[in-house]
Amino acid sequence: MSTATDTHTRSHYNAARLRSHTWDQLKLAAMDLDEGRGTPQEVEAILKDLHTIELYWAYPGRETVQQLRDMLRSKEHHGLHLAVNHVVRMLSSGSFRSDTAAMLDPRSGRNELLTEEAEKPRPNYFEVLFVDDIDDVEEAALKQKLKKVRDKADEFVYDTVVVRTVQDALIALLFNHNIQAVVVRFGVPFPSTNHKGVLREFTRAIDALDPGAIGRANTGPYLGRMTRWFRPEVDRYYVTDTPVDGLKDTTLATFKRIFYRTEDLTELHLTLLRGTMEKYETPFFTALKDYSRRPMGVFHAMPISRGNSVFKSRWIQDFGEFYGRNLFLAETSATTGGLDSLLQPTGPLKKAQELAARAFGSQHTFFATNGTSTTNKIVVQALVEPGDIVLIDRDCHKSHHYGMVLSGAYPVYLHSYPLEKYSMYGAVPLSHIREQLFKLRKGGRLDKVKMLLLTNSTFDGVVYNVERVMEEVLAIKPDIVFLWDEAWWAFARFSYVLRQRTAMHVAQKLARKYRTPEYRAEYAAHIKGLKKGEEPRMPDPDKVRIRVFATQSTHKTLTSLRQGSMIHIWDEDFVKKSEASFHEAYMTHTSTSANYQILASMDVGRRQVEFEGFELVEKAIELGLLLRRTIRENPRLNKWFDIITIGDLIPADYRQSGLDGYYRRDKGWNEIEKAWATDEFAVDPTKINLFTGKTGIDGDTFKNKFLMDKHQIQINKTSRNSVLFMTNIGTTRGSLAYLTKVLLHIADELEARNAGFEHDDKRAHLARIRALTEEIPPLPDFSSFHRSFQGQPGVPGGDLRSAYFLAYDEKRCRHVKLDAALTEMKQGGELVSASFVIPYPPGFPVLVPGQVINKEIIDFLIAIDVKEIHGYRPELGLRVFTDAALGRQRTTTAMGGMRPASLPARKSARKKK
Ligand SMILES: Cc1ncc(COP(=O)(O)O)c(C=O)c1O
Repeated sequence: MSTATDTHTRSHYNAARLRSHTWDQLKLAAMDLDEGRGTPQEVEAILKDLHTIELYWAYPGRETVQQLRDMLRSKEHHGLHLAVNHVVRMLSSGSFRSDTAAMLDPRSGRNELLTEEAEKPRPNYFEVLFVDDIDDVEEAALKQKLKKVRDKADEFVYDTVVVRTVQDALIALLFNHNIQAVVVRFGVPFPSTNHKGVLREFTRAIDALDPGAIGRANTGPYLGRMTRWFRPEVDRYYVTDTPVDGLKDTTLATFKRIFYRTEDLTELHLTLLRGTMEKYETPFFTALKDYSRRPMGVFHAMPISRGNSVFKSRWIQDFGEFYGRNLFLAETSATTGGLDSLLQPTGPLKKAQELAARAFGSQHTFFATNGTSTTNKIVVQALVEPGDIVLIDRDCHKSHHYGMVLSGAYPVYLHSYPLEKYSMYGAVPLSHIREQLFKLRKGGRLDKVKMLLLTNSTFDGVVYNVERVMEEVLAIKPDIVFLWDEAWWAFARFSYVLRQRTAMHVAQKLARKYRTPEYRAEYAAHIKGLKKGEEPRMPDPDKVRIRVFATQSTHKTLTSLRQGSMIHIWDEDFVKKSEASFHEAYMTHTSTSANYQILASMDVGRRQVEFEGFELVEKAIELGLLLRRTIRENPRLNKWFDIITIGDLIPADYRQSGLDGYYRRDKGWNEIEKAWATDEFAVDPTKINLFTGKTGIDGDTFKNKFLMDKHQIQINKTSRNSVLFMTNIGTTRGSLAYLTKVLLHIADELEARNAGFEHDDKRAHLARIRALTEEIPPLPDFSSFHRSFQGQPGVPGGDLRSAYFLAYDEKRCRHVKLDAALTEMKQGGELVSASFVIPYPPGFPVLVPGQVINKEIIDFLIAIDVKEIHGYRPELGLRVFTDAALGRQRTTTAMGGMRPASLPARKSARKKK
């Protein structure tokens, strides 16, 4: 049977929320007690939980909870009520970060001795975690000494949290997002008693760790490694007695600095501040601010610079007022500002990119100011030569398809599993990728395979098991390059659960793993254990190269002005093989007039995630889960709307953990960690797909007419019968409450609408529901490239570029309406698309140039009732190649005649000769 505490803890996704909720409960209980309604027992029970929870926080901390307990015992009920109110106010307003005195004495809200300091707003506040097996007296002395070494001129102020065991340290790191540095002392014991009781729902990730038989002497380095795993952005310091030559290399690599017990605390204090400053600095933003403050005469082609053309104008003053002067003061160009050049950075911009590489875990990071639409093309062009084969998910962003055209790569389109009920695609099963690679190997084309390109997460939030994909693909093709389109996934790095499925994390992990003797032994055993005909699933350590690229629309999920995008690289062969071509591709696509405001915003966005990424991403996840639960549990909402669950988005075969939803009333939050560690696919918790089919309203109408026009709620994506909500680092509980209110309002409108239906209306309405829920157009797979454009007959891969350019001559193309196309095909005609045809939604090409058109594709185009289909004009029909063009292409390409000179003659063509 579940107890009240169980229900209480289960209703929170994370411990930070449990904590604030528990304080709120204490506030109510203290008020009741003060006003004669409550009992001391109730207050004591809550204080007991808070005594456990507050071990991990500097403010208000355990000492305050103890003071409150003392007040309860001495029956100071009114004082207790006031003190609790004060603490709750400090916590909820965040003012404990800026008012030292007020936070120190909960009884009075003032501490006379520190009023002078209190008046000075605390600059940037953080907390430092000390892990040391000391007693209370030693703890007080440590805190006192650290206070003494502070200086008024310090740029940052920190408070300390002291815990005495490794497990407590891990709990603190998971719960307390204010912690920015951890100081581990040598030889702390391992187990804590606090991972049971009120916190047990939140320590699963820690309980699941298997520290093995680590002796007490090794707990420090172990904790360093675990800190890196849970919170890589937290600075790690080690205090030990072991002489330098006795420390392992891994220990030296795990910690930022090693201290000896005898050393002065001032040194530690300065190091803590320096470490924080290294994250705080924003070289490019700072340089841009400095530049904008300098007096300047502009004789460059930039009249807007310094607001000159705006503020002197009689007609566009309002524009200047709207944006403010700084926007224009910061308008500059590399050639005038002396700042740095995006095309060849050597100063602050180079530094900003290096800091981003540190934050995002890459070897190299490059900024771009025109979106992932461009960075995708840069990476493809940099790595792929004409005639190379790229395995690519067909429902990827259109920039990749254009990248194929630009580079002259032969795409092998991969099929994502369909989710017909929602007119969506899932993601590409690993078995399908391997199968395509085996076909290519059989056809003698494996050496041409250059890249695997996948979208992670997908627009709808399906997330790959990046590690498994890379391992099993490298087992077949050990030098393949991975391009992970992480347009929607930049934020994932700052959650330890989601990070496991990011490109950079896995690249780094695998690069390290494949060089170890343990891996060699494991690989040898794996090969030995293979049955006859069985394919290896582990890469050969002597051949494997880790070459991983990720493109991220920073602006989609983190703080960045629109179009801010980053390319992250972990490539063991970058310098040797790709640096020069990367540079050329970067030059090809990058403007010589890059927008400096966008670049500065990425620099600042990087600083933000290094300090607050963990907290904000946790919150975005929590709000995503909360929205799911609210809709599922509210009968007024679930009558009309269904949350599309994990089970709906991922077929059972790809969910080895069996997890089918994030929340169950009887169990609380499900074991996300397990599913994210094991399953072939997972669902991004910040993407919430809502099924609107039961309302009889299609996704597009619901988005535009109901959410946007009436309630100014913006969403990004729809399908025929669904809309997608996203929570992000800017989402607040207030905005979630507003969305819930709006959905309830819409539910009431739908009630009223249905009540007013007369017979015919009702029939029409039921037909609409049927159309949205039952008469589902089957999603077409990629058919095939026409034989004229096949890389090699019978082997996957097509020459998209030749087809694309063949269509430049209007004489080689004609139009055919959808009905006529069906008739032509029935009569044995072969139709081949001359254009990309991209319906919005779903937003990926159902046809690419050179692709054979089949009945399923036409049926789909007829059935989807969307207004926007790029590359298709209803009054003309589909653009297809004439028979003559295809005939000509067949002969000419076979002889290499019409193919661009850069394209190598195909093997098949050579054979024919
Ligand atoms: C998967 C994917 N990749 C790339 C892009 C393009 O990104 P951007 O808008 O930054 O140009 C998008 C845009 O929606 C996308 O969904």
